[in-house]
Order: sequence, then C-alpha cells, then structure tokens
Amino acid sequence: MAGENGEAVRNKQVIFRDYVSGFPENTDMEVRESTMKLRLLEGSNGLLVKNLYLSCDPYMRFRMTKPNVPVYVEPFRPGSPITGYGVARVLESGHPNFKKGDLLWGLTGWEEYTLITAPETCFKIEHTDVPLSYYTGLLGMAGMTAYAGFFEVCSPKKGETVFISAASGAVGQLVGQLAKLFGCYVVGSAGSKEKVDLLKNKFGFDDAFNYKEEQDLDAALKRCFPEGIDIYFENVGGKMLDAVLLNMKLRGRIALCGLISQYNLEQPEGPYNLMNLILKQVRMEGFLVFDYYHLYPKFLEMVLPQIKEGKIVYVEDTTEGGNVGKRGGL
Ligand SMILES: NC(=O)c1ccc[n+]([C@@H]2O[C@H](COP(=O)([O-])OP(=O)(O)OC[C@H]3O[C@@H](n4cnc5c(N)ncnc54)[C@H](OP(=O)(O)O)[C@@H]3O)[C@@H](O)[C@H]2O)c1
Repeated sequence: MAGENGEAVRNKQVIFRDYVSGFPENTDMEVRESTMKLRLLEGSNGLLVKNLYLSCDPYMRFRMTKPNVPVYVEPFRPGSPITGYGVARVLESGHPNFKKGDLLWGLTGWEEYTLITAPETCFKIEHTDVPLSYYTGLLGMAGMTAYAGFFEVCSPKKGETVFISAASGAVGQLVGQLAKLFGCYVVGSAGSKEKVDLLKNKFGFDDAFNYKEEQDLDAALKRCFPEGIDIYFENVGGKMLDAVLLNMKLRGRIALCGLISQYNLEQPEGPYNLMNLILKQVRMEGFLVFDYYHLYPKFLEMVLPQIKEGKIVYVEDTTEGGNVGKRGGL
C-alpha cells in the first residue's frame, strides 16, 4: 500500500470548524486534505492506523458545544479532525498490546489515517467471523451501552415490562432483543412506520408505536402497558420521559442512557412529573458506558453466539464515500 514504508500519504480529514449552537449544519465541518508520514516517532507508544469504519453517534453533538461547565466528555477542538468511535487496522505499533495488521475498535479520527496516542483505550478485534462494521455499533460502544444499561442499571427480572425509546437506534434495538431473550415483555417507540415494523417483525418486540403519530403519549403508553412499566430504558427525554413517569410501576427502574430530543435545544424541556418517582419509589439512574468497559469480554461471550445463531440481529445505517463512512442504528 502506498505510504506503508514511511513516505507521506494523502490524508483526507473531516475538520470541526467551530462550536455549534442549535442544529449542526454541514458548514460546521469541512473536508480537507493533508499529508501524513506513516511512521511512528522513535520511542512513541502510539498506534498509526488506517481507519476502515467511522461511527456517527448522538453524544458527538455535545462534544460540539462550547463547554461552560465542567464536562466529562471532552469537547472537539476547532480546527482539528472530529474524533469518534471507529474500526481501524494497525499500520505501525509502539504499544505492546498491538502489532502491525491487528484490527481494533475505539476512539479514532474522522480521517483516513490517525495517530492514536492512547492505545490503551482501544479494543483489539479477535472475532472476524462477523461483519467488521458491527464493532462500530452492536459489538462496540453502543452494544456495551445496551448491555450495561439493561443488566447493570435496570436490574431486570423475568416477566417484567420494559419500554425503550429511540428503540430502533443502535442502542435501543439491542436493549429490546436482550430484554426479550431474558424473558421480559418489550415495547419500543420510534419515529416512522418502517421503524415500527422493524421493531415488531425483525427485532421481535411485543409491541411498538410511532411517537410522531400519537396525539397523547400517556394514552399510548397506557394502551401498551395497562398494568404499568417496570423498566424504562431512556434514550430521548423531553415529553416522552414525562409521559413515562406517569406510567411507572411501584419500585420501577429508569436507566437514563440519553436525552437525544434535548441535545440541540438552547433551553432544555421539563421534566415535570418527577413527583411520581417519590410516590412510586422509582429508581432513576444515569450511567456512562465507559464505567462498564471492564465487562466487555463478558458481553462478547454472551452476545457473539447469539449473533451467530441468528438470535440477535442488527440493522445498520451505513454510508460509503470518499473513504469516510457512517454507521448507526436507525
Ligand atoms: N450513557 C451512555 O454512555 C450512552 C452511550 C451511547 C449512547 N447513549 C445515548 O443513547 C441514545 C441512543 O443512542 P444510539 O447510538 O442508539 O443512537 P442512534 O442509533 O443514532 O439513533 C438515534 C435515534 O434517536 C431518535 N431521535 C432523534 N431525535 C429525536 C427526538 N427529538 N425525539 C425522539 N427521538 C429522536 C431517532 O430515531 P426516531 O426516528 O425513532 O426518532 C434517531 O435515529 C442517545 O440518547 C445517546 O446519547 C448514551
């Protein structure tokens, strides 16, 4: 491959231009070409990688906001390539855990080649008998989020009722399938008829509804859960969270995974119905997937055989072009 012996190669990059307020626009990013020498500096413990798949994830939106409070997720740097999860091949390694030719997933750059300076945050890909792109979603950060959020935060019991919002997304589709395999009654919400069909017919949810077509979210939830909800896997926030709070069962659990409906708002909405947490003794807990990465081997052990047996399926939204791709749930 051109450049593998240390000469300079073209490196096409997606540059973050400046901090964003409201909805991001194409003009907040620009594609640039630079050159890069494919050789590690003497003594470096980094990795030089060729990026194969890049993931576009909702948390990246708040990395685009100028921080005015202490943050736990570092903002992007204006003028630098966007960073995010991806799958890459190691071209040169200064780190004992990786060697030339290895495949990995982890934080990399939206560019053709990246120098990864913190290889200890990357996971070596050992199982290549599944599509490599799965490591940007189902078998990567999103999958771990579903697994940790459901089993570690929601403390599920067989037979419980589970509601998942943004249910056809990368996280939601796996939460629903894990909950079904575990023996729960599972309902999801999504934003189109096609997605609702997928939830019911491909991912095996017991029921699903299109939240954009429901006049009254409280009534929709009462229709699906006449006895109430034991577990809510929260991906969206806003009006949906308020409606769910009215429908939680006694000692229910809410895993606060994400609030995607709020990320582009200048002024966050609600919630207004928090009194229900007290009256029904509901536990609502936020979590970050990074705290659970030590469970990754256990997650793979559980989920890989289910994928191979077709008991867990995955639908990706992938774009190919100019060496910069995108994945995501739907
Ligand atoms: N806590 C953590 O460590 C962690 C880690 C990963 C992800 N997350 C969170 O988990 C959630 C899901 O992530 P993902 O990777 O599954 O996302 P994804 O695959 O990109 O799917 C996101 C989906 O959210 C829905 N959505 C967008 N805007 C919405 C709105 N205003 N109201 C309601 N739904 C909206 C859309 O589906 P519809 O067409 O159905 O609306 C969209 O396809 C996000 O909130 C994310 O921030 C948290």
